[in-house]
Amino acid sequence: MSEIIIWDDKYLTEIATIDSQHKIIFKRVNELFQACENLSEKEYIIKLVNSLDFYTNCHFDTEEEYMLKYEYSEYESHKKAHNNFKNVYEQIKNNYNYEKSQATYMQAIHLSQTLADWLDHHLQNEDKRLAEFLKNKVVQEG
Ligand SMILES: [Fe+2]
Repeated sequence: MSEIIIWDDKYLTEIATIDSQHKIIFKRVNELFQACENLSEKEYIIKLVNSLDFYTNCHFDTEEEYMLKYEYSEYESHKKAHNNFKNVYEQIKNNYNYEKSQATYMQAIHLSQTLADWLDHHLQNEDKRLAEFLKNKVVQEG
């Protein structure tokens, strides 16, 4: 089974909640990619796209809640990065006509590739800086 994004410890933030959510997103991006490679039922692909979309948004909310709770100074720019991504993802999603399109697999691969590229960059930059800021605070919380 090929993977479009491979988990590596370089992505670790050392914040348990964030790391476990990131790992789940990686797993689901790969599931979507593999489902396309296997030409799985379109209904299944659509289900994966929608659940990935939902889960990614929940994850963004988690990070944004941490940022607000601890009054992170880069909150606005980090949230903007999340919103930019949501817009891109939404645009790609809207480009396909789920029932009729013959291009569903190509679009879904495009989605998984877009998400993989974005995650690779975002986790090593914005999320790393956020993790550095949260490190002592979240640990103290127990
Ligand atoms: Fe983030």
